[in-house]
Amino acid sequence: MKTLLPKNSDGCPYLLLAPMEGVGDRNFRRAMASVGGFDEAVTEFLRVPSNAHVVSLAKHYDPYEIAPFPLAAQLMGSDIELMAAMAREIEKKHAPRIDLNCGCPSNTVTGRGAGSSLLKDPNLLHQVAKALVKAVSIPVSVKLRSGFDDTSLFKENLLAAQESGASFITLHPRTKADGYGPPAKWELIAEAKALLRIPVVGNGDILNVSDALKMLQTTSCDALMIGRGSVINPFIFHQIRAHFSGRPFKPKWSDLLGYFDAYIKDIPEIIPERTRVNKMKQLMGFLFKGNEHLLALRQTMLTTTYQDLGAFMDTAMPLLEKGWKAVL
Ligand SMILES: Cc1cc2nc3c(=O)[nH]c(=O)nc-3n(C[C@H](O)[C@H](O)[C@H](O)COP(=O)(O)O)c2cc1C
Repeated sequence: MKTLLPKNSDGCPYLLLAPMEGVGDRNFRRAMASVGGFDEAVTEFLRVPSNAHVVSLAKHYDPYEIAPFPLAAQLMGSDIELMAAMAREIEKKHAPRIDLNCGCPSNTVTGRGAGSSLLKDPNLLHQVAKALVKAVSIPVSVKLRSGFDDTSLFKENLLAAQESGASFITLHPRTKADGYGPPAKWELIAEAKALLRIPVVGNGDILNVSDALKMLQTTSCDALMIGRGSVINPFIFHQIRAHFSGRPFKPKWSDLLGYFDAYIKDIPEIIPERTRVNKMKQLMGFLFKGNEHLLALRQTMLTTTYQDLGAFMDTAMPLLEKGWKAVL
């Protein structure tokens, strides 16, 4: 059987691009694929409501979207039979893996007992994960926060995931109640690692190479998943790799231009101009956040109204170029 989460021969851990609904969509994944550096990505959650038509829902997933990079499908729901049926549909589409969402904090989601609500009921979490494992022959993983209101069920939830037959878990060590406020509690990743037989992917607040190394050292996690850090700095995966290979990685301005080209090329023509501008503002907002020369300009860039995407890019790109060239 193929090893999951294989380390690179130079010791670099397996690197996963995190699911990020609303930010890390298809456009972003294609842009990240043009830059590369990660090993695998996973889609944002695909909600499986109790009236879901699984065949139609599965049409939203394309495993070859960022080929040659594997793209796992993340499912969110708690209806055991429907989730199993959905998993079978996704497997038919040749997904490399299915991930169960046990972390999404959005209220419209938690209200129906899915996402982070599963963390309130380890037994239900276990049943849903087990139903997925039984339904398909591909690996199933579980992505969790550390709890709902608190961490009182932390260990029960981890064990529930493991005993379901999941191949590995990914832990974002904040509770649902934490949102994104307090720093991620990496010590919980170390606890998960000590408790479980299955691999643990560490996630949360990795913004640069030294964060990545520190997480590996302090938690002994098996692989790393990075979300916001990759929107702030699309080269972060290459930089982590470069640390292990010893081969320097120096991103060029043209690499960032290629990233934008890949992103924009894929924004559907049919979406309104204002939405296109806002989408690009969001992406640019992250890039400005990660650059000390651009931080002061970020607010103005985000609040100014632009006639169309062209006008926005004409204003933002020269600023970005100046800021990035100062640090490249
Ligand atoms: C905008 C946004 C959307 C997210 N959407 C999802 C999602 O669809 N599924 C999921 O499991 N986690 C989701 N997350 C959580 C991330 O995958 C990740 O666990 C979290 O951001 C911590 O990692 P980071 O500090 O590297 O960003 C989302 C996070 C953000 C910021």
